Amino acid sequence: MVEERTISGKILLVTGGAGFIGSNFIHYWLNKYSDSRIVNLDKLTYAGNLDNLKEVEDNPRYEFVRGDICDRELVDEVFQRIDGVVHLAAETHVDRSILDAGEFVKTDVLGSFVLFEACRQAEIEFFIHVSTDEVYGSREEGFFQEDDPLNPTSPYSASKAGGDRLAYAYTKTYGLPIIICRPSNNYGSYQYPEKFIPLFTTNALEDKPLPLYGKGLNVRDWLFVEDNCRAIDTLIRRGHFGDVYNIGANDEVTNIVVAERILEVLGKPKSLIKYVPDRQGHDLRYALDCRKIHDLGWKPAKRFENGLGETVRWYEEYPDWWKKIKEKSKEFKSFYETYYQKRK
Ligand code: NAD
Ligand code: TYD
Repeated sequence: MVEERTISGKILLVTGGAGFIGSNFIHYWLNKYSDSRIVNLDKLTYAGNLDNLKEVEDNPRYEFVRGDICDRELVDEVFQRIDGVVHLAAETHVDRSILDAGEFVKTDVLGSFVLFEACRQAEIEFFIHVSTDEVYGSREEGFFQEDDPLNPTSPYSASKAGGDRLAYAYTKTYGLPIIICRPSNNYGSYQYPEKFIPLFTTNALEDKPLPLYGKGLNVRDWLFVEDNCRAIDTLIRRGHFGDVYNIGANDEVTNIVVAERILEVLGKPKSLIKYVPDRQGHDLRYALDCRKIHDLGWKPAKRFENGLGETVRWYEEYPDWWKKIKEKSKEFKSFYETYYQKRK
């Protein structure tokens, strides 16, 4: 076991802090560590949303910097005044990567490269590189271990695999204090409503069809976002530099079961489910062996059967949050119309 690193007085850079996991992580961190500070570097793409961070915007321990992780000058400047990094900034939606992969390669590969280069010049104590379970590809049975080969199948997961392996190369070649983690599908508050659970929940609330791909039999391992934040915290304090850690909840559910459960929580009819043509190259199943992070003392606290209900209720309780995106964002509308029009 690594000797516990101290957090006290440290300044943490969170990239992509205005996104889903980033904003949950910032709330978690500022609440838990009362003498630690956060710098949030975010480009505010369509997925970045400062509404997620309203509660902390006046907190003297929080600073927002709007900028691109591909901007080396800016990144170098920020790296002068931080102690550690949690790198979350990325293009993240598989369906968008199928339409156009350019921004994925730029941010997820090149942007990560810029951060690793900056890390070589600065005095950084730790760097958590957030990869994804999707880099392994799909498997029908069994569980992926950290040293299994990577076989990404979507332009998103291939770009993430590029960042993941660069992180590995930089820690092995230059001895940088990087830890790579590969979380499974997260769910919870503030998730952009293009993703499965918030899209289906908000469509159901609006009595609109829920577009289920293929036969709805794909399996994801659902991890509550706060459990993921705690896992990242565990890695900051106890992870081994140069190592990879899977983060999953071992809560495997088929998409059809998730869709039906959302409708049940909201008291809406199953007839809202609409089977649509499958996603191209749709991975059947992701599943992780997480014994390595369990050995550091982390375990998921929330079971999906409870967490899904709470999450669905959160979207029900905060319609202003998601209606602003679904009704007013041109980005959301044009993607939804282009992508789902083809599936009719
Ligand atoms: P998200 O799409 O909700 O947020 C991404 C954030 O990154 C946004 O705030 C966006 O503005 C910012 N960003 C994008 N490009 C940027 C750039 N070039 N420079 C600076 N900021 C930029 O994503 P998320 O779901 O919160 O995922 C966060 C990270 O976790 C990603 O690296 C993703 O690959 C990884 N991950 C997510 C999940 C999941 O289920 N959500 C699972 C495993 C891994
Ligand atoms: P998603 O939230 O996009 O995450 P990922 O593809 O990265 O795992 O999708 C989760 C699952 O839900 C995936 O199997 C695809 C499926 N899905 C649908 O059936 N319909 C939809 O409209 C979306 C967005 C996803």
